[in-house]
Amino acid sequence: METIPKYTVFHRILHWLMALAMPILFLTGFLRMFWMNKLLIVSTIREKTNSVLTDAQMSEIAKAIREPMWQWHVVVAHIVIFSLVARLIYMWVKGIRFPNPFEKKLSAKERMQGIVYIGFYAFVFVSATTGIILKQGFFPQLHEQVESLHKLGLFWFPFFVIVHFGGIILAEVADKKVVVSKMIGGDNELLVAKTKKKLK
Ligand code: HEM
Ligand code: HEM
Repeated sequence: METIPKYTVFHRILHWLMALAMPILFLTGFLRMFWMNKLLIVSTIREKTNSVLTDAQMSEIAKAIREPMWQWHVVVAHIVIFSLVARLIYMWVKGIRFPNPFEKKLSAKERMQGIVYIGFYAFVFVSATTGIILKQGFFPQLHEQVESLHKLGLFWFPFFVIVHFGGIILAEVADKKVVVSKMIGGDNELLVAKTKKKLK
């Protein structure tokens, strides 16, 4: 039986921070690019009102309309950056808590799980770095490439969510691992078992 607690309070707080923050970044990025796209708002205003305003003026209106929404991307990005840095330090100090895909003795399922989680952190790292570069205006000559790399989040994140939820359902239903309650309430019974062992 595993004796090292996997789901410590810190681990769970970081997980749920990310689980809340990532969909917000995805949604606000998606909305800004599509449903609340600047050009789309401008053309809608023009179509519906026969407006005499110039494109530049309407573009300013569009920006102002979506500004409060966009603030969420910026603020929540800080939460993700903090959680990522904290998670990396935590992994560095305590070791990783999901299967290490580079280990030899692993089932195909566990290796897959490890690869997906490492992939997730690698992609969040890319999103965060490219986001910071865009925000700070670093490397202006590479703006387009960096922006395209950043927008890849719209593809990899839904992919991760589908695989993650699929994996959790499999673990709960097929392997009877009750991982969801552990990710919520922790796996303290393991700690208790460990303490009892020491007391004996
Ligand atoms: C969409 C937002 C979510 C993201 C970005 C996310 C991310 C992650 C990541 C990166 C891990 C790897 C372990 C770690 O470093 O903590 C993980 C594990 C886990 N997540 Fe999520 N998660 C999300 C939503 C959820 C939801 C909604 C649930 C519950 C229904 C959940 C339940 C779990 C469980 C049970 C594990 C542990 C799996 C195991 O140890 O085998 N996650 N999650
Ligand atoms: C983690 C830290 C992140 C930071 C600091 C950040 C920052 C930014 C910034 C500054 C922009 C504006 C770019 C510009 O105007 O040229 C942007 C755009 C965007 N972000 Fe993020 N972001 C982060 C994470 C994410 C994630 C995880 C996703 C998706 C899952 C995402 C999706 C998008 C999308 C789709 C856009 C394009 C919006 C548009 O061009 O209309 N971002 N981000």
